Amino acid sequence: MYNFNLQIPTKIHFGKGMVVNLGKDILEYSDKVLLVYGGGSIKKNGIYKDVTDELIKNKIEWVELADVDPNPRIESVREGIKLCRQHDLGGVLAVGGGSSIDCAKVIAVGVKYDKDPWDLVVDKKLMKDALPIFSVLTLAATGSEMDPNAVISDMATNQKLGTGAACTVPKVSILDPEYTYSVPVKHTAAGVADIMSHTFENYFNTNDAYMQARMAEAILKTCIHYGPIALAQPENYDARANLMWASTWAINGLLAQGASHAWSVHPMEHELSAFYDVTHGEGLAVLTPAWMRYVLNEDNIDRFVEYGVNVWGIDKNLDKLQIANMAIDLTEDFFANKMNIPMSLSKLGIGRENFEKMSVKAMKGKDSIKGMVELRPEDVVKIYEMCL
Ligand code: NZQ
Ligand code: ZN
Repeated sequence: MYNFNLQIPTKIHFGKGMVVNLGKDILEYSDKVLLVYGGGSIKKNGIYKDVTDELIKNKIEWVELADVDPNPRIESVREGIKLCRQHDLGGVLAVGGGSSIDCAKVIAVGVKYDKDPWDLVVDKKLMKDALPIFSVLTLAATGSEMDPNAVISDMATNQKLGTGAACTVPKVSILDPEYTYSVPVKHTAAGVADIMSHTFENYFNTNDAYMQARMAEAILKTCIHYGPIALAQPENYDARANLMWASTWAINGLLAQGASHAWSVHPMEHELSAFYDVTHGEGLAVLTPAWMRYVLNEDNIDRFVEYGVNVWGIDKNLDKLQIANMAIDLTEDFFANKMNIPMSLSKLGIGRENFEKMSVKAMKGKDSIKGMVELRPEDVVKIYEMCL
């Protein structure tokens, strides 16, 4: 196991009706916040009312930034910073999925930064200080509720970049599984694919971090068990609760620390979203089985065998290569047939026209992605081609 530092300071209130804890916790920091949310789902499903009732009860004033897009844009960040300054707000409260929470994070830092916030997206080292960040999670997927990361897009330049620092970890997050009952099938499935991908990014490595690997397998099994139940029964509390908690733990640092290499599938997917604005989890689901097939080799086959045996229950006495290939096939089948995700780039409306450009940008300014298997742009083009 590698050395690591880990601090996860987010206070979580998990369960039905736990929004009642929000007001008093916000008041420890401020009584005037920016309320950040997306395209209006929270007004239809009653979450907006729960949250604003809680703010009113605690005499917390708020100003609203609505219409944050899925794949949040830098323009929303700029607007949020302006509102915080104009109204002298002391905190940022996101109510939504990863897009609203990520947008809130960069707003919170941008208020303390005197130049354009795109700088903060390009260079996370500039993130020194932030207004306190709070979240009410409405979609189990990104783990933004308990991690420092924020992914922001500039569609004008086809850039989608991840940033984050210690100051962007939320202070408090409300995780009420009932708030995810109204998540449509498409986003429930994409969320499950995202949780699984975060777990795969940490799990597929050549380092021996036994405990992290077993916890990763537990998260994967949770997704495989409860994903289809949540699709069939959107109001199944146990399914929504387990997926919500899996989303948080897949990316809050526990699986990564001591174990992980650079992530591989996420940088490839972020280019799909940057060029074609696809749903993050769907892009990941398409790329994951192809990436697995491409990187499987003699050095890493044992991890694929563990995945097949421990997660999918494949007979451990079979030939190693057979187990590895069966595990990849089962992964693909799960996304395609159990989660009903459109499983090719063409089904997502993507052709090969930008593969070269996207593959270079996926390197994020370096020569290669140094994941479990090092990938150069030509490798990424081949993986994209396998997904057509
Ligand atoms: O905009 P609204 O009206 O809220 O509707 C959203 C949106 O259309 C809807 N939705 C969310 N909760 C709902 C609901 N609809 C009904 N009922 C509810 N309870 O779902 C749609 C997608 O929402 P979004 O927030 O975009 O989804 P997600 O949570 O998957 O976030 C995706 C963004 O997060 C980034 C992605 O790249 C993408 O930009 N990521 C953030 C990460 C992080 N912060 O750590 C890591 C991830 O790897 C990822 O890159
Ligand atoms: Zn992700």
